[in-house]
Amino acid sequence: MNDLDTSLVGRTCTPDRPLRVAVLASGGGSNLQALLDARGQGPWDVVNVVVNVAGAGAIDRARAAGVSVVVVPHVGLSRAEHEGRVLDVLGAHDVELVVLAGYMRVVTEVFVSRFPQRILNVHPALLPSFPGLHGARQALSHGCRVTGCTVHLVDGGVDTGPILAQAAVPILDDDNEATLQRRIQLQEHKLLPAVVTAWSEGRVVQRGGLTRCCGVVVAAG
Ligand code: GRF
Repeated sequence: MNDLDTSLVGRTCTPDRPLRVAVLASGGGSNLQALLDARGQGPWDVVNVVVNVAGAGAIDRARAAGVSVVVVPHVGLSRAEHEGRVLDVLGAHDVELVVLAGYMRVVTEVFVSRFPQRILNVHPALLPSFPGLHGARQALSHGCRVTGCTVHLVDGGVDTGPILAQAAVPILDDDNEATLQRRIQLQEHKLLPAVVTAWSEGRVVQRGGLTRCCGVVVAAG
């Protein structure tokens, strides 16, 4: 393959054979909600939700939408045992694309190898700046004037996989962590469904040594 060749990362899906998406979450689930609300935007569907924290808001959101939700607590289990249980659930639902939407667990190489180039994560900063926890806090403490959010492929590192799409958020003079985090999340809620739709429409491709997600533009928020 030369540098100009393009190969599809996802598959081109159709309404009668939609992309089967699972969402993994740990918290309130606002990004899950954005995905649930965006169903119908493209040939994909949320077929399953897995939550690792009992009582997390994401559980109620999935139930309210009539989507299968399974709680797989990690407490008392080794990482391998927990991932094994999650993988069993995903396998039972023939999941094709896994979306980490506020899933506060680092997934291992074993997990990634079961879904190669088929795990998305949404991160509250413009990667490669500010990986890890507290993206908004880090941007504020560095005096940034612009930050944002990133949707990227998961590769086994912490927020290190290929970047697919980003949206910018200006930092206002009177921002604090909570106000900035809130505006970042509003951008996440647009960006994440747009990337899933792009994936299902065959707009995520390998080209020139990079993984690209074509046609996803979110105006600065
Ligand atoms: C999001 O801001 C996401 O960037 C981060 O965790 C947060 C989850 O929020 N990874 P929610 O549970 O989707 O509301």
